[in-house]
Amino acid sequence: MCGIVGYVGDKEATPILVNALKKLEYRGYDSAGIAVLSEGSLVVRKAKGALKFLEQRISTEIIRGSMGIGHTRWATHGEPSDANSHPHTDVAGKIAVVHNGIIENHAKLKSWLASHGVSFRSQTDTEVIAHLIDFHYNGDIVEAVVETLKRLEGSYALAVICESEPGRIVAVRKDSPLVVGAGTGENIIASDVPALLEYTRDVYYLQDREIAVLYRDRVDFLDGDGAPVEKELSHVEWDVAAAEKGGYEHFMLKEIHEQPKALADTLRARIRANGAKSIHLEEIGFDASWAEAGRVMITACGTAWHAGVVGKYAFERFARIPTDVDIASEYRYRSPLFNPKDIFIIISQSGETADTLAAMRMAKKGGARIIAITNVVGSTLAREADLVMYTWAGPEIAVASTKAFTTQLMCVYLIALQFGYLRKTIDGETLTRYIDALEAIPGQAERILANKGDIQRFASLSFNKTKAFFMGRLFDFAISLESALKLKEISYTHSEAFAAGELKHGPIALVDDATLVVAVCTQRALFDKMDSNIKEVKARGATVLVITYEGESFFDGTADEVFRIPPAPDEITPILSVIPSQLYAYYCSVQRGNDPDKPRNLAKSVTVE
Ligand code: M6R
Repeated sequence: MCGIVGYVGDKEATPILVNALKKLEYRGYDSAGIAVLSEGSLVVRKAKGALKFLEQRISTEIIRGSMGIGHTRWATHGEPSDANSHPHTDVAGKIAVVHNGIIENHAKLKSWLASHGVSFRSQTDTEVIAHLIDFHYNGDIVEAVVETLKRLEGSYALAVICESEPGRIVAVRKDSPLVVGAGTGENIIASDVPALLEYTRDVYYLQDREIAVLYRDRVDFLDGDGAPVEKELSHVEWDVAAAEKGGYEHFMLKEIHEQPKALADTLRARIRANGAKSIHLEEIGFDASWAEAGRVMITACGTAWHAGVVGKYAFERFARIPTDVDIASEYRYRSPLFNPKDIFIIISQSGETADTLAAMRMAKKGGARIIAITNVVGSTLAREADLVMYTWAGPEIAVASTKAFTTQLMCVYLIALQFGYLRKTIDGETLTRYIDALEAIPGQAERILANKGDIQRFASLSFNKTKAFFMGRLFDFAISLESALKLKEISYTHSEAFAAGELKHGPIALVDDATLVVAVCTQRALFDKMDSNIKEVKARGATVLVITYEGESFFDGTADEVFRIPPAPDEITPILSVIPSQLYAYYCSVQRGNDPDKPRNLAKSVTVE
């Protein structure tokens, strides 16, 4: 996720671009850059790091010019650096492009362009766009963009300017947001409404593949083939604070709702569907040699550790390989045994968690090979691991992790399934079945979110319970751990998770009529066991919420409330079954008057022990 802006009008563009980028910094803060048409030439300035570093870089010069584009980056392809910052230009530096999204066929386009003599200055997928536009440029930048779009696969919001065509910006989107703000004597584009509100409240929302051509005094709209289209103007009523959160009350709720897209982004580029569907992890350098491992060891902290617990079950189920999972702060201080054929999977949203890095370094020293799953390109974990698989979740602002967790699960499944396929513990037909199930997940997540009112209502009735227990078996145990953590960190309710089979070994002593028990019931072969556990806590006065599948009547009559999720294979279900608990924790937090984005005593990234 990145932020893009563009301005054409009668004022100085540079301060307007920088100001608008400030409103988009939540979308990415690895680097920032601008390109301004100044006295007949394109002036490009960029800087690694937060926007303030770009501001410092341009503070000693005056870049005159009333048209330009800008970008704030959340790195996906290539580490954060000056060279990888946007805008990117063609070889001659006459065409400048800013991009938000992922060009999935960039490697193919790159080699094609290289065979035509283009040399690249960055590791980004975006740079190919600038060169392709130049390749198709015959004196009309709009036509060149239209031709280029025909060759791009993936998601994009783009803004393009050309030195020899002063006074117009070409903008287009597909699967990434872009809004056009209509001003008086000026027009402006941005990834998101907050960046526009200081200049105008009249906006056009671009649809997929629609092109906007912005001039100082008008905006033309075209379809993807270059034919004119009519657009309706909308008036924005929200205030700026609400707009930064996309209209949601909190970042956490926004991030919960971003999961369908984040999951689709994390999955899409790793699946090929020419002939039989298959998983492709070559981008991370994962080949058959990795599947010869003798053991998989997973380490992480907090929510990322819960993704690791799901990973243990998935690796054992799909790849029939011995798999251990441990909390990084435990792992680093016990005396673990290494085998040169061990593979380590280290999971961390930030890639900077102190204990997680220490565990990784220990394993490396012991001779193990490391696969990192992280959300942050260029993080310490990403730099030091042997292979890196990125979760393409975009920046996660709320302290409580939501979209980072479900995209971590998506990565874990992709690796575990590919392991199984390479080790021949699952055949091609089974693999295709699971890929189909993974592809259905984003749509199914949307359906759960559409029913969030049911969870909100249940939270309004139960938010003041003094204790909450989450129980489940196998994959549901892992989701119980994550659900209990979510509830405790933002609502401050005392909540614990346990494997349902442990109920009679201790936790049942605490159950009384002040207790909420959430029973996660998605492991079909164990429904009757869960039903007995539910009856045991009900008999002691607990209120019980069951999370199970649509169309499943097994728990009707026993539970006080049943929340249903779309059916999926038992192993894959955790990506879906955690969403009701995320929503429950959020609504309880709000009901209790807390700020779910900034829970007391917690920090987003734990970079010290
Ligand atoms: O950045 P990391 O994934 O390494 O962070 C690990 C934990 O601190 C983190 O998952 C924490 O538990 C979450 N904020 C919980 O929502």
